[in-house]
Amino acid sequence: MDNRAVGVFDSGVGGLTVVKALREVLPYEDIVYIGDTARVPYGTRSPETIEQFALEVLHKLLEKEVKLVVVACNTVSATSLPQVVQAAGVPVIGVIEPTVQAALRDNQIQKIGVIGTPATIKTGIYQRKIAQMGEGVGVMAKATPLLVPIVEEGYHEHEVATVMVAEYLGAMKEAGIQALILGCTHYPALKTAIAAFLGDGVRIIDSAEPTAVAVKERLEKQGLLSDTPQATQIYFTSDSPEQSMRLAEVLLGETVKMEKIEV
Ligand code: DGL
Repeated sequence: MDNRAVGVFDSGVGGLTVVKALREVLPYEDIVYIGDTARVPYGTRSPETIEQFALEVLHKLLEKEVKLVVVACNTVSATSLPQVVQAAGVPVIGVIEPTVQAALRDNQIQKIGVIGTPATIKTGIYQRKIAQMGEGVGVMAKATPLLVPIVEEGYHEHEVATVMVAEYLGAMKEAGIQALILGCTHYPALKTAIAAFLGDGVRIIDSAEPTAVAVKERLEKQGLLSDTPQATQIYFTSDSPEQSMRLAEVLLGETVKMEKIEV
């Protein structure tokens, strides 16, 4: 047993989708979350800058004495996971491998679409992992940079979301994808618009639940589960917390208190 908290970080508040799933899958675990809202988005920056930001946030999380780190950000998981693993000194779980495994669990699926930030898609990591883990499975990947600001601005249920989803996913729909991976923390907020556009036959897979299950498996394997039924969550943001509260409510499904942290 280990009652230290699980640390989770993201470029912003999008990673709260992963926290939500963690709280469901691991209700006894304390969670410390850091969202680097002062510097979001990461997904349009260079790999070097993303790595530097990720390591700075990681160190802040390690100061909170976490027992495991969840890299909730797809962009950091795609560009800098080995560097985070090397610097952490505690187990680290990224979002990409659990998400790909979840997508490939149904072996009827032979054609998968992936959307993410420009930095994530440019690494080709989803495409490579799907090729390695799902023999013969076809992949179509697309960077969808306007979806993050649409969610950030609270327009996830607005017509602008419908228009951009159709613009970005038109070719994938036409090609007959059977599943779509939402390779970005913000995209679960657009699930309704995406599902409406793609129709019932297409499975939509996001990183939150598969990542939470991967965390559970790792904690079990390493004997690190907590036995405190009164789990707590502490949320930090690097920019003014007030600005993040509204989006946090959308992503987490409840109002939470956030504190400011310097990164
Ligand atoms: N958190 C990022 C991701 O999951 C999205 C926002 C950003 O670009 O920083 O890729």
